[in-house]
Amino acid sequence: MKKRVAALISGRGSNMTSLIVAAKDPAFPAEIALVLSNRPDAAGLETARKEGIAAVAIDHKLYTSREEFERAMQRVLEEHKIDIVCLAGFMRLLTPWFVEQWSGKMLNIHPAILPLYKGLHTHERALADGVKLHGATVHFVVPGMDEGPIIAQAVVPVLSNDTPETLGARVLVQEHKLYPLALKLLASGRLHLDGARVLIKEESANDGALISPKMD
Ligand code: GRF
Repeated sequence: MKKRVAALISGRGSNMTSLIVAAKDPAFPAEIALVLSNRPDAAGLETARKEGIAAVAIDHKLYTSREEFERAMQRVLEEHKIDIVCLAGFMRLLTPWFVEQWSGKMLNIHPAILPLYKGLHTHERALADGVKLHGATVHFVVPGMDEGPIIAQAVVPVLSNDTPETLGARVLVQEHKLYPLALKLLASGRLHLDGARVLIKEESANDGALISPKMD
């Protein structure tokens, strides 16, 4: 039985789309059963509808408290019998209550190599610090923002002529590979929590390194 996944979005939804595309493979262990946005104008809602996926907007501005908003989301998630929640550019902080409901079943993608650069403007901050490598992380969601056990990371080089936009675009290409990979690992039951570490069953050897700048 495939796991039923909800993608929570607030905007364009390119990571959501990468999950939808990956889940079209009959061998993929999850299906994207619902797309939920806190913004009725999120472009990703239309993309999901075109794919025949249930797409629901729950406008947070119509609720008097964060809890009420989240209870409305929780009802919709239950109605759609959702097993796993993937935050995909969802720009609302979640309360410990909601996070608890989805403990071990809610993922987030962040455009940086955590625990570096939690929060916003990650590409600007990486450039300002002069790091030579940057990237993206998929992690389990816990109450602290951009904290939680790390499932998968992708690293890209930072080039001398990079702007936040070019660097962000290079990271995004990797995000679109990383999120389906992490969801596949979770949905197929290959992830194991060991304290703060996520251990992966039947992990393939991967002992190469990305060194930047390139040495010719
Ligand atoms: C991505 O960079 C993701 O890492 C971050 O928000 C952005 C969402 O982009 N959490 P999209 O809506 O998936 O295109």
